[in-house]
Amino acid sequence: MKVHGKAYRSIWPLEAGKTVGIIDQTCLPHRFVEVELRTLEDAAVSIKDMWVRGAPLIGATAAFGVALEMARDPSDASLDNAWEVLHATRPTAINLRWALNDMRSCLSQLPLEQRADAAWQRAIEISDEDVACNESIGKHGLKLIEEIAAQKSPGDTINILTHCNAGWLATVDWGTATSPIYHAHNKGLKVHVWVDETRPRNQGAGLTAWELGEHGVPHTLLVDNAGGHLMQHGMVDLCIVGTDRTTAHGDVCNKIGTYLKALAAHDNGVPFYVALPSSTIDWTVADGLKEIPIEERGGEEVAWISGETAAGDVEKVRICPPETPLSNFAFDVTPSKYVTALITERGVCAASKVGLAGLFPERANAT
Ligand code: MRU
Repeated sequence: MKVHGKAYRSIWPLEAGKTVGIIDQTCLPHRFVEVELRTLEDAAVSIKDMWVRGAPLIGATAAFGVALEMARDPSDASLDNAWEVLHATRPTAINLRWALNDMRSCLSQLPLEQRADAAWQRAIEISDEDVACNESIGKHGLKLIEEIAAQKSPGDTINILTHCNAGWLATVDWGTATSPIYHAHNKGLKVHVWVDETRPRNQGAGLTAWELGEHGVPHTLLVDNAGGHLMQHGMVDLCIVGTDRTTAHGDVCNKIGTYLKALAAHDNGVPFYVALPSSTIDWTVADGLKEIPIEERGGEEVAWISGETAAGDVEKVRICPPETPLSNFAFDVTPSKYVTALITERGVCAASKVGLAGLFPERANAT
């Protein structure tokens, strides 16, 4: 996607085995800051401290983290250590484990002297594959938006609600939930996006609103609790969200608050779609509610809110008494019964074991 007219991905190789470029997403929307990762530790910190975030981008960054480490020390011990260090950064997005397992199985079979080049090459491929998957998700999702447009009067706006940031910043490019939206907008469909602010880190306000604005997609920011009201009043034609981990049975774990949007959509007959590359499916998990580890983050994210002052300085302010006890669950699970369909790179399917197995028989049968 373009930023100030220049094409960007959210992560890009700079010098083979030495440096990787990323955007420090903690600075958006106030500043656009590029950062160079040079070591395994840099990659781990960038994921843990959320300079990069979003399930597919976490996976791609981990792959590059392994590649940086292989250039320093390609031994088995170093490969295992890189896997552990990166895997410990964040618990919920399955793309992290997926990318690390992919890198390890590709590298562990090779002689040491070939590992650095192969790791760099494979990390680039993982990034490119993510872009291709998301572009394909966009094409499949576009058909769903077109179907909804066909039910409306010509010239009517199609209102789409999204939660958190499942945009190009959360992937390597295109985004998952935003890819159908970008495809529809690029094709000239009159789309408008309701953007949930997504407390406490405000990925909707800071990232999704910024992305859509850069691309010229009409959108409106709203507080997290407003979605249900909009749906009750016919102001949402469909919801599209991303996911950090989808079970083999179609349960969807995504940013906290997704479940409440799905409930409101169900109650109001609004289609609720989840867009995902297959790297986000955890084929080993059957019951999303019981088996997916939900990240619990520090309470300071709830107590303190950061923003730009009228003078252009970025400042933090506390919004509750200093002694207030705090809770900060970062994700929730939406049971498959509330998901209208999953949009994947291979097509649209029911959020169920049968639906997923129909599109990915080789994976479903292997587990
Ligand atoms: O905590 P974050 O910002 O990493 O959470 C991101 C999300 O919840 C996204 O919706 C999800 O990773 C899907 S990204 C295509």
